[in-house]
Amino acid sequence: MGPFPLTLTRYIIQKQAAYPGATGEFSSLMAQIGLVGKMIAQDLRRAGLISILGTTGGTNVQGESVKKLDEIANETFIKVFQYSGLVCALASEEMEKPVTLPENWPHGKYMLLFDPLDGSSNTDVNMPLGAIFSVHCYDGAARLPSESELIRKGSEQVAAGYLMYGSSTMLVFTAGQGVHGFTLDPGVGEYLLSHEHIRIPAKGTVYAANEGNYQMWPAGTRRYFDYLKARDKATGRPYSARYSGCLVADVHRVLLDGGIYLYPGETEKPEGKLRLLYEANPLAMVVEQAGGRASTGTQDILGIKPTALHQRVPLLIGSRDDVTLAEEFIQERR
Ligand code: AHG
Ligand code: MN
Ligand code: MN
Repeated sequence: MGPFPLTLTRYIIQKQAAYPGATGEFSSLMAQIGLVGKMIAQDLRRAGLISILGTTGGTNVQGESVKKLDEIANETFIKVFQYSGLVCALASEEMEKPVTLPENWPHGKYMLLFDPLDGSSNTDVNMPLGAIFSVHCYDGAARLPSESELIRKGSEQVAAGYLMYGSSTMLVFTAGQGVHGFTLDPGVGEYLLSHEHIRIPAKGTVYAANEGNYQMWPAGTRRYFDYLKARDKATGRPYSARYSGCLVADVHRVLLDGGIYLYPGETEKPEGKLRLLYEANPLAMVVEQAGGRASTGTQDILGIKPTALHQRVPLLIGSRDDVTLAEEFIQERR
């Protein structure tokens, strides 16, 4: 028999000295994220049976149609963190304005930004989904944070990660001390350490992108995709295409096996689609902590000084050498 499995809580407590605050609060914060994951996973497992598929008929602040499950997932995050005592402000892709939580003030020192349900076009077709979270520390003692205080650089995140609802539910996170993956054992109801110290290969042979947008991309981007599909044994080409429509699932594959995920800018929409604060920043922290890179094509994601809560960015993320080469094409240096 192998060693006793490490639960998420036990793992963080064991490593506590290394984690932000080191007061036990961080392990509670991650346990709460884990709880959100269990609740949403439970809804998703039965979604086809309990009339929560489809859209609400509304659109969100991004102008995208809202799925019922987007709203349910967003409410689940709010419910779990409202009385957590840990978090003083929440901002989400699905809410125009941040929510401050006076009930957790002044004790709760964390601010949480999240994409409550990632890949929502997959809800109705039983494909993978995820959630992405970004954690900042708020040190202003006098009052609750204002909206502008939530708009921070990715390099200031103290922790970040994602939940993935695939064939199993996983919680993958970093708090600046490497990237660790936990798999939910549904029978026991606990997340158990399954992937300690994930390291992303320096180069892969897989790319993930919505290539249906090819004609909308600038020339350098198109040439990069042509390059990936050309035959060259020495560099592992052609690369294989793998795209699920769920950023979390596609980045998870790249994190474990290497390669690159791209949602590039388009000629007429240079800012791309993905959101800096809820998607790009947290995944960039995870991938960089695992030894990979995340870039807009011209700049490291984590170095961007954001100006708006719902700001979008082009995203190239994955193996270090693949991202660097993609940048060379996009910048027309190759
Ligand atoms: P969300 O469901 O949170 O709006 O995110 C969807 C994102 C991402 O998960 C995925 O990679 C991408 O958008 C899919 O977009 P396309 O349908 O344009 O490929
Ligand atoms: Mn998303
Ligand atoms: Mn979403």
